[in-house]
Amino acid sequence: MKFNLKSEKPTAHITPCLIVPCVETAKPENCAKELDAKLNGVVASAYKEKRFEGQLNQTLLLNSLGKIKANNILLVGVGKSEDVSGEKLRQAAGTAIKIAEKNCFKKVSFLSSGGAGSFDIKDSSKNLDLETLYFSEGTFLALYKFDSYKSENSDDSQIGEIVFLTTQSDLPALKKSIDKAQKIADSTFLARDLGNHPSNKATPTYLADTARKMSRKYGIVCKVLGEKEIKRLGMGSFLGVAKGSDEPPKLIVMEYFKGGNKKSPIAIVGKGVTFDTGGISLKPPAGMDEMKMDMMGAAATIGAMQAIASLKLKVDVVGIVPTTENMPGGSAIKPGDIIKSMSGKTIEVLNTDAEGRLILADGLSYAGRYKPKAIIDLATLTGAVIHALGHHISAVISNNDDLVNKLKKSGDATGERVWELPLLEEYEKAVKSNIADLKNIASPGVGAGTITAGAFLKSFVGDQPWAHLDIAGTAWGEGKEYVPKGASGIGVRLLLDLIEKGI
Ligand code: BES
Ligand code: ZN
Ligand code: ZN
Repeated sequence: MKFNLKSEKPTAHITPCLIVPCVETAKPENCAKELDAKLNGVVASAYKEKRFEGQLNQTLLLNSLGKIKANNILLVGVGKSEDVSGEKLRQAAGTAIKIAEKNCFKKVSFLSSGGAGSFDIKDSSKNLDLETLYFSEGTFLALYKFDSYKSENSDDSQIGEIVFLTTQSDLPALKKSIDKAQKIADSTFLARDLGNHPSNKATPTYLADTARKMSRKYGIVCKVLGEKEIKRLGMGSFLGVAKGSDEPPKLIVMEYFKGGNKKSPIAIVGKGVTFDTGGISLKPPAGMDEMKMDMMGAAATIGAMQAIASLKLKVDVVGIVPTTENMPGGSAIKPGDIIKSMSGKTIEVLNTDAEGRLILADGLSYAGRYKPKAIIDLATLTGAVIHALGHHISAVISNNDDLVNKLKKSGDATGERVWELPLLEEYEKAVKSNIADLKNIASPGVGAGTITAGAFLKSFVGDQPWAHLDIAGTAWGEGKEYVPKGASGIGVRLLLDLIEKGI
């Protein structure tokens, strides 16, 4: 795909399809009005008949019948001018580009700044050209394709060239926005690819190789620890899960120290279960295939590290990924087994399907070695989070209000929203075992499965500022405006925004 940037009057621009974002109004305004003047009022009549008024994600495709240089115009709504946000611009862009794609346009021009009329973008204080940043981000993210396993390229509706058109003359600033959006999209695509690959491709070794390759490209120091080293570190909890599988486990560590404060980096820890059968507590067959995405916390961690490093942020971040399969092999842990974690705490394993918290326990202890100023873990940890919050918002459980507030702000800014669940003491008690320090599931009847999982994790971070994101409901989806079906890549943009704004 080719991208170009051009400053030109929209009425003079030659293209098969010109996408024009519009704020919500009663009649065409701004660029839509200028175009309409040459189109004999066809746009005005659409407004009059209420077929298009600029509501968010509303679209109208019109053929220009040779009256302007663009063969077609595609109007897309961004909603009321006083409510315009970065997220709405991303959605409108994603919606429009998908319509253009469905209509088989091979070349599209997007009026990415100066078209929609006057509005302020909420919650934004950066000085890049934001309209172009958000529009190009939504455009790129929506055009993601995963066709590695199709032997023939059956999709002939692909757009080959996008021109970002502007009425402004400050092209270098706009170029910077487009470059940034491209880097953000590439990092998100890396996470989506890892999630979409089946587990016979995306093994722990594949995750480690991908992290290594990415790290080499962007100046990150990457260490991959194998089984022997993991054993030497005393990670009996992580290894307990790995024992049931023939695939060797890996502990991936990515260090990016460019902020001059190596001593207290931000630590990101991602659950990397490349396939979750449930282990001896075997899952039912229906929908088990989806458990290839049980490494989306790991994917978000690797993707966020790429985003941070490719944008050359001056920050100190370490990404930590314990990765393994959860299989019911002959050596697998069994319900009732007791294992010893790196922290020294012993764990009674009552359900081998609650394996994510077991590998994260040791991942979090490892993060503590960096004396981090904050630890954020991401995991497709519980089915219960889908009952609590559905598929549109991730759960956050934390011991630090400031971190939660910052995550909420970044969630709203990026569209990767989060909602806090309370970490009550009662739930911490519910994961104490009678015969070991902890048990990996709460007693029957306690409920609150997402919180008890978070309470279990808290034992391994102590008083360090920490937030746990349960992304089981948001990592995989049916597709929306700029997020295609399958792996969403959730977490990459959320972490980037959080770290960019500063913890
Ligand atoms: N990987 C699953 C959680 C999950 C469920 C992710 C649905 C994505 C979609 C996790 O390892 C798991 O199996 N959790 C159990 C915990 C239970 C045994 C306490 C669950 O949620 O059922
Ligand atoms: Zn499980
Ligand atoms: Zn799992």
